[in-house]
Amino acid sequence: MGKRAILVLMSTLACWTGLPSAMAREGPPSWAYPMNPPGFKLTPDDGAVRHVPDSRVRHTLSEVRDRFLAPDWHPDAHPPMPAVVARGRPQNVSACGYCHRAEGTGGPENSSLAGLSAPYILQQLADYKSGARSTAVPYRKPQTLMIATAKALSEEEAKAVAAYFSALKPRQNIQVVESKTVPKTYVYNWFLAPVKPPAREPIGQRIIELNNDLERFENRDPRVTFTAYVPPGSIRRGQALVDLHFSTVV
Ligand code: HEC
Repeated sequence: MGKRAILVLMSTLACWTGLPSAMAREGPPSWAYPMNPPGFKLTPDDGAVRHVPDSRVRHTLSEVRDRFLAPDWHPDAHPPMPAVVARGRPQNVSACGYCHRAEGTGGPENSSLAGLSAPYILQQLADYKSGARSTAVPYRKPQTLMIATAKALSEEEAKAVAAYFSALKPRQNIQVVESKTVPKTYVYNWFLAPVKPPAREPIGQRIIELNNDLERFENRDPRVTFTAYVPPGSIRRGQALVDLHFSTVV
């Protein structure tokens, strides 16, 4: 996990301190788990061929939305993908790389898997399978599909995916910015996107993580970057928590 990711995590924890009772009452914060509005519909595929910088690969919008396909924009940048990472196994094993990206970089709607240790990955998959690990939002589609995928995964497949993702290099792709205000957002396909025309609003006690290029993000380009806006003082408080943790661990 990159230092910035740790800071994001820590500031998330700092924001949530004291919130368990509020969470039990109101559910987890909507900025952390954005829900599509009722009746939400994806924009239709216009048939245009899509591409991302520094890649000769081409895909349509329907292809990048297919949960049995991990768009592989940079096939030379990683070892060969195990079949379930690249294509899943119909009907219940969605392609890991569809959500976590072919290069394991993930996004705000799930998590980066690149460079996590193989035993850790195997443990999470086993825990999702047994029910020991659940989620705060079992009604949210990305989580439902993740858990269904883990439950249907064979032991051999789990070993292959754990070996694949643990061998990838994690990428630092989130810039943390402290700010009193943030772009006003709406929920589009389980993630936050800035409203048009752009407007700003107070950040409050939230972390607002946005992709820096909507088209590249929708194309599942693993090289797209993100900005995580956090309340002023979060990085200092996060650093203090990390220091405290490591001074007690070491
Ligand atoms: C439909 C999207 C989707 C697919 C497909 C998917 N995942 Fe996930 N994955 C998620 C989400 C969302 C989470 C975070 C769930 C939570 O705890 O709320 C997650 C979490 C995880 C975690 C835990 C990460 C951590 O930091 O603790 C692991 C490990 C993981 N996924 C592995 C896989 C593997 C391996 C596959 C393929 C066999 C896969 N996932 C397929 C969406 C997906």
